[in-house]
Amino acid sequence: MTAIWSVDKKKFIENAQQVKAQQNLMAVVKNNAYNYGLDFSVEAFQEAGIDTFSTTSLKEAVRIREIAPEATIFLMNAVYDFETVRNNEIHMTLPSLNYYYQYKEDLAGIHVHLEFENLLHRSGLRNLEEIKEVLQDHANNNSHKKMIISGLWTHFGYADEFDVPEYEIEKEAWLNIVNTLLEDGYEFEMIHAQNSAAFYREGQELLPHHTHGRVGIALYGSRPYSSLSENQIHQSLTVKGNVIQVRDVNKGEYCGYSFAYEVEKDHTKLAVVDIGYGDGVLRTRAQHEAIINGKRYPIKALMMSHMFVAVDDSVTAEDEVILYNEDMRIDEYTFKGVGANSEQLSALNHDSLIKEIR
Ligand SMILES: Cc1ncc(COP(=O)(O)O)c(C=O)c1O
Repeated sequence: MTAIWSVDKKKFIENAQQVKAQQNLMAVVKNNAYNYGLDFSVEAFQEAGIDTFSTTSLKEAVRIREIAPEATIFLMNAVYDFETVRNNEIHMTLPSLNYYYQYKEDLAGIHVHLEFENLLHRSGLRNLEEIKEVLQDHANNNSHKKMIISGLWTHFGYADEFDVPEYEIEKEAWLNIVNTLLEDGYEFEMIHAQNSAAFYREGQELLPHHTHGRVGIALYGSRPYSSLSENQIHQSLTVKGNVIQVRDVNKGEYCGYSFAYEVEKDHTKLAVVDIGYGDGVLRTRAQHEAIINGKRYPIKALMMSHMFVAVDDSVTAEDEVILYNEDMRIDEYTFKGVGANSEQLSALNHDSLIKEIR
């Protein structure tokens, strides 16, 4: 018995189709596709009708090119290995005015997307003036060694926040830039801004003039915010362990390392389960429950390869212990404060869990 990470491929693809609906999406596949696996996810998203991908790592971008020779690939981080970017026809962000002036010759033949920094301040041109400066310098540049301006993009840092006005502020600033540039006669093959939250906040629609939504977590089956219904986004992932044995412990006894759990009642039944933080179960997640035989039981202590779950007489050795499935979703625990959807997913350890694509 070993704990298992498994994905129902058909459900994964159906969810991607439901998220995409009629829109053009760029699937964000960074960090090994939110830990679902880059190869698996790119292939599944292609089956769902998505042909554009983005990541932050050049290594992943090159791998996507190997898996998907015809795909459009957008690298969200600027890199300095221009040869690899060019040879693999990877589109790349233009992250600052300095970068442009320093590397404009090195960027020859590379498709760049001008980035607007907006409220996130992580990367990008600072304002409309800087964007126009690049566009004008580029237009006036008679060299045959020129980059190709193919896109315009930003990332909303507050799309997942509902109690503050920042999303509306950053959206307005961005739309103002898009509209001004288009009115000035500039053309962009690709315009993209919306992550999952911003895509759903707009009713699963793209903002005006946008060619793509740049969506991650919804494609992997987790809701970006809690007012969305579970029927809108479906989880295909199951993470489960097994009961190794059930032990009878008494009031006042301590279980787990360093007094982790003090037993409150005599004849408490504690299931010892073969999954722990070494498999990527977050300590915050272990403050909640697990499902055994369809019923939720409280987790009492977390160790590297084990956990204790307080159970009743119906639970026996070899029963399955569900930590995540369609009834116990990653996003449920996001909204309970365990950690971001992507944080819970990224923690899962594929080197110790058995990995199954069903
Ligand atoms: C620049 C950028 N765009 C899009 C996304 C996708 O976000 P989400 O997973 O919330 O859809 C991310 C994820 O962090 C990102 O960094």
